[in-house]
Amino acid sequence: MEKITANELRQKYLDFFQSKKHIIIPSAPLVPENDPTVLFTTAGMHPLVPFLMGEKHPQGDMLANSQKCVRTGDIDEVGDNRHLTFFEMLGNWSLGSYFKKEAIEWSWEFLTDAEWLGLDPSRLFVTVFAGDENAPRDDESIKIWQQQFEKVGIESGICESGCEAQEDSRIFLLGAEDNWWGPAGETGPCGPCTEMFWDTRPEEGKLSGSHEKMVESFRLMEIWNDVFMEFEKKSDGSFEKMSHHNVDTGMGLERTLTVLSGKANVFETELFEPIIAKIEEISGVKYEDQKNSMRIVADHLKASVFLLADGIEPSNTERGYVLRRLIRRAIRQGHLLGIDQNFIAEVAKIVQEMYGGIYPEVLDPKISINLTQEEEKFRKTLERGLKRMEAIFFQDSNEVKSSQDSSRLLDYSHAFDLYQNYGFPLEMFLEELKKTGLEYSEKDLIREFNEELKKHQDLSRTASAGMFKGGLADNKEETTQLHTVAHLMLAGLRKTLGGDVHQKGSNINGERLRFDFSYGEKMTEQQKKAVEDFVNQAISAKVPVEMNEMTLEEARESGAEGVFDNKYGEKVKVYEIPGFSKEICGGPHVKNTGEIAKVFKIKKEESSGAGVRRIKAVLE
Ligand code: SER
Repeated sequence: MEKITANELRQKYLDFFQSKKHIIIPSAPLVPENDPTVLFTTAGMHPLVPFLMGEKHPQGDMLANSQKCVRTGDIDEVGDNRHLTFFEMLGNWSLGSYFKKEAIEWSWEFLTDAEWLGLDPSRLFVTVFAGDENAPRDDESIKIWQQQFEKVGIESGICESGCEAQEDSRIFLLGAEDNWWGPAGETGPCGPCTEMFWDTRPEEGKLSGSHEKMVESFRLMEIWNDVFMEFEKKSDGSFEKMSHHNVDTGMGLERTLTVLSGKANVFETELFEPIIAKIEEISGVKYEDQKNSMRIVADHLKASVFLLADGIEPSNTERGYVLRRLIRRAIRQGHLLGIDQNFIAEVAKIVQEMYGGIYPEVLDPKISINLTQEEEKFRKTLERGLKRMEAIFFQDSNEVKSSQDSSRLLDYSHAFDLYQNYGFPLEMFLEELKKTGLEYSEKDLIREFNEELKKHQDLSRTASAGMFKGGLADNKEETTQLHTVAHLMLAGLRKTLGGDVHQKGSNINGERLRFDFSYGEKMTEQQKKAVEDFVNQAISAKVPVEMNEMTLEEARESGAEGVFDNKYGEKVKVYEIPGFSKEICGGPHVKNTGEIAKVFKIKKEESSGAGVRRIKAVLE
């Protein structure tokens, strides 16, 4: 295969899925929209959770995109050959449409067909869910993979879970730890996944040893994950088959580019080379000589540019704190490279040039202003920290002289105090300490520092634990209630504004309902009140919600309201709230409107494009 660029890889992926009738949706922002429960968008599926839970997506049921993602869980790992805080995830989704057969066949076609990536199939290996007490072995996926390999004359032996690779091993069975995805929270959609791996060193001959070992030694690199959401995890811990099936796939752009360009290292691809070249130029240091620092500066500043572009500003809390930490770590690593003047905006400029064509938001001029301000602030912090250190050393060394205990010349807790109160990094403390000629044990000092840090982090982790729980899955009941309310509201709108009103899209989370509908004028106060009254009446009437399956034609004839006129499949579900609403929908809904037991309120009504209005509503 010819050398491929990142832009080509991204574009090919999107073109491929467009040719398979997917709608290409834009990347959602890094700050999850209307979801205060998580810090950042961490996967392509993340912004789609409401739709994976059964809500209808306005663009249809087959989607694909390239999604900006930030994961900071691995921040300390950055500097090795593959961990990144910012990355792009290519993904395709079926929302109740196609399932395993198409997903796997398309993955195969995209990877191996000469028109697309044209990868050598003999270098591809896959993993499939082995089965456990909750769900059976994914035989269907095994069979589909075997058919693909058979087409090109490759024997596809199965390597059972826990076994070592044999001569013909091609499909590795792994347990839930590796091949099960989700749910995002405690409960919700989940299912087995199948992952595709690339053999980075075929010259070493047949695979040998366990799958895990080959991944650890980077012989096999994961490139793509197809998740088949077919189960719902219930609050009692059981897994139930869902009536609708979703596909969620994710391919890391940076990693895939790495293996496709035959590199062992993501930082040596064109997605990092220009940034590293700039850092070399500013510092006068060669990448080869200080790889780790260079990688951290490059990764962190790239992530910072994207976070700033999505409206985050450095601060001491939550998202702003993560951004501040990334920027400060980059400056600190710059210091190790001998850069002590402002430099981060200059590096950021390269990132902006690289990505501006794909993600124009990174071109915002406020990004470099913000970076420089933050850099100046941090440099002042460092200066203050250094002054404080001088005072400590002086004072401590006098104390020490008069002390009996000459084995300990410095109160180690100063290191943590400085870090805590001045943001002064431990590494810098150690460097300064070296210059003083004082006696100390670096090992003990670091140990004490880490103990303090751990105590502190445990506290903040408890506080932030709630932040990371999947918002929707945790507010499942509220979400379901708002689903039913959306039906009631549409019926109320049609009754009040006329039968030309149809749904144009919706977005529900545990806190509120956002609903778009066709209508050309601003609603009056009376009209809004009439819709509210209609919904609230239905809630107080405690009406049982009925569900019937029928063909699309039968549903239409029965007078059910249908939201979109494309593909519902053979049979559709019709949810009826007798006397109030009848609508085609995948669910879920409450069993009785009385469960809602709250008051429905329209908070906002505004235009959302030509002939479309948008309502934001809540249950109070
Ligand atoms: N959600 C899955 C992942 O992140 C597939 O997109 O790997």
